Amino acid sequence: MRVYVTRKLPDEVAGILTPFFEVESWPHEDVPVSRSALLSGVETADGLVRLLTDRIDRSVLDGARRLKIVANVAVGFDNVDVGACTERGIAVTNTPGVLTESTADLAFALLLAAARRIPEAQDALKRFEWKAWSLMFLTGRDVHSATLGIVGMGRIGRAVARRAAGFSMRILYYSRRRDAEIEGETGAVFRPLDELLRESDFVSIHLPLTEETRHLIGERELSLMKPTSVLVNTSRGPVVDEAALCHALERRTIWAAGLDVYEEEPLPAQSPLRSLDNVVLLPHIGSATVTTRTRMASMAAENVREFLLRGKALTPVNPEVLALRRAIEQPNAD
Ligand code: DGY
Repeated sequence: MRVYVTRKLPDEVAGILTPFFEVESWPHEDVPVSRSALLSGVETADGLVRLLTDRIDRSVLDGARRLKIVANVAVGFDNVDVGACTERGIAVTNTPGVLTESTADLAFALLLAAARRIPEAQDALKRFEWKAWSLMFLTGRDVHSATLGIVGMGRIGRAVARRAAGFSMRILYYSRRRDAEIEGETGAVFRPLDELLRESDFVSIHLPLTEETRHLIGERELSLMKPTSVLVNTSRGPVVDEAALCHALERRTIWAAGLDVYEEEPLPAQSPLRSLDNVVLLPHIGSATVTTRTRMASMAAENVREFLLRGKALTPVNPEVLALRRAIEQPNAD
C-alpha cells in the first residue's frame, strides 16, 4: 500500500510507516505542499498524512480513488471536509490529548505577555528607551487574582483553568456542557457567554472552528468586554471577527489581545494588527514544542499504520466509517 505525506517528517516518525508501506512525501519541511503535488500524491494513495495548511476538499477526494484514511497532524480538522470523507468511506483522524498541555502553556504565556506588555518592554529596552526606573513606565495589568473567562471548556480550556487556579484567578467558563470535575478542581463557575464577557478581565478562547463558532466573537461581543480586558486566542482565527477586533484594539475599547491564530494564515503583510502596540502576535505555535510536535506527527503516522494494517484507528473523528468497514469486512462478526 502507498502513503502520501504532505510535509517532510522527522526520520523517527517516517520510520513508523516505511517498514510497511511505500511512502512518498513532499520534500520540504517549511513549505506547504503545492496543490498540484497534493492532487497527484493522493491519486494512488491508500493513506494520507496532512498538515493543517493543506485543504482536503471534494476536489482532492474526487481524484483519490484508493484513499482509505486522512490522518490530520493537528487536533483541529476544520480544513478537512469530514462529511465528504465519510460519504466515501474514508476515515479521518486527529491528534487530541498530546498537545493539550503545550497549547495551554502558550495560551497562558500570551495572557501574561499581553497583560505585562512583555514584547513591548523588551523592544523598549533594545531600542535604548529605558532611561531610568520610573513609576508608571510600561505598567500593565495584574494577572493574579483577576477574573479569567474561558470560552470552550474542552481539554485545552480545562488545562488553562488549572494554570489559572495557580495564579489565584477567579475562573468563569462558557461551554456547551457543564464540567463538574473542573468546577470542583478549580472553582470555575459557568456563565452564559455575554455575562462571561462582561465580567472577565481576561478572555481565553478554546473552541474548534465550526459554522456555529465562526465569528462567535464579533463587534457586539467585543463591546461587552471591559476596556481594561485582554482577549487571548490560541484556537482558530475565524472564531474571532478580526476586523472587529482590530477596531476594538485601535479604539482601546478592550485593552489588549494575545493572538496565535488568524483569519488568514500566515498573517497578511498588510494586516492592521501588525501596527498595533496593544497586541502580542505569534505565528500559530500553540503546540510547537519538540516533544509535542513529534508526538502529533507520530500519532498521525500510527493512525495510518493501524488503520491500513488492522482496520483500527487510535483517534478517529468519524468512527462510523470504521464501524462500516468492519461490518463490510466481517459481516458475521456480531
Ligand atoms: C491544532 O492541533 O489544531 C493546532 O492548531 C496545531 O497545533
